[in-house]
Amino acid sequence: MTSDNELELEKIEKELKALINKAGLTLLDYFGKPLKVEYKDAHNTDPVTEVDRSVQDFLKKSIKEVFPDHSVIGEEDSDISDEPLSKFIWVIDPLDGTRNFSQGLPIFACSIGVLKEGKPVAGAIFIPASNTDGNILHAVHGKGAYINNSRIKISKKNKPKAGSLAGLPGSFNNKYWFSTKLDRIKGETRVLGSIAYELAMVASGVLQYSALLGSLAIWDVAAGSIIIQESGGSILVGNKGKSKTEWTKFESFYTEFNNQKINSKNLRQWRKPMIFGSDGIVDFISKNIKVQPYWKRQLRHLIGL
Ligand code: IPD
Ligand code: CA
Ligand code: CA
Repeated sequence: MTSDNELELEKIEKELKALINKAGLTLLDYFGKPLKVEYKDAHNTDPVTEVDRSVQDFLKKSIKEVFPDHSVIGEEDSDISDEPLSKFIWVIDPLDGTRNFSQGLPIFACSIGVLKEGKPVAGAIFIPASNTDGNILHAVHGKGAYINNSRIKISKKNKPKAGSLAGLPGSFNNKYWFSTKLDRIKGETRVLGSIAYELAMVASGVLQYSALLGSLAIWDVAAGSIIIQESGGSILVGNKGKSKTEWTKFESFYTEFNNQKINSKNLRQWRKPMIFGSDGIVDFISKNIKVQPYWKRQLRHLIGL
């Protein structure tokens, strides 16, 4: 007999697939057209456009129509509150890679993740693909991960391979370094400019891992996390110290908040680094990644390097 939980997840999956498809087609429609770019911060590092806002509005409205008692968090929200959220929380990044998108680089994504009691249980990512209406990756807890209708599985490698592609932030050398053992085999590193796109590439086996060592926001990773877990991959989350980052296996955002009730304020403010890939690779990376000594970082800063 199908449980209430399974029925709810089936309903979520159906809606998720329909919505990501519509959101993706809207993004393709806007892509390449002139757009007014505004910035959410004083240093002009965080761009936003009418596309981000209109796709988010569409998604929020549609989700609320079908699931009035679920909570919805979007990157572009303006309302932030201390009110506890519902058991199911939809987490939306309407356009991940806004800078790429607004400058004509076809590496961007729409990302919708669903958390149940803080744990990612379903997710979908739209990415553009040449000469098609794009690709959709999706996953539901316990049911595997798919790109369009084909199952995807991450290979069970124990170590990265030199020459194979991998995702690493451009700012990597400012804060971290790799042991010689890892440095030799870290692979051909790339910075794609869209975290959700990068996670889609890990899940589909194009990138052998993605070490996202900056401060990720929940909307960047909510969908990618369940897609990678369901494709057989693993995720580590880092707690940054001054001289060391402690890596633990990522399970749920509740654990991240010491199992306390989550509200939109603390969920929106969550910022952590994460490593995505096969079990063996994420373990190998976490053991071979070092934080640059504090004095070295200060010195670089002082001499303007
Ligand atoms: C950004 C992209 C980018 C990453 C930034 C994110 P946005 O998301 O994922 O790759 O480096 O940290 O904020 O703003 O385009 O949704
Ligand atoms: Ca965004
Ligand atoms: Ca983003």
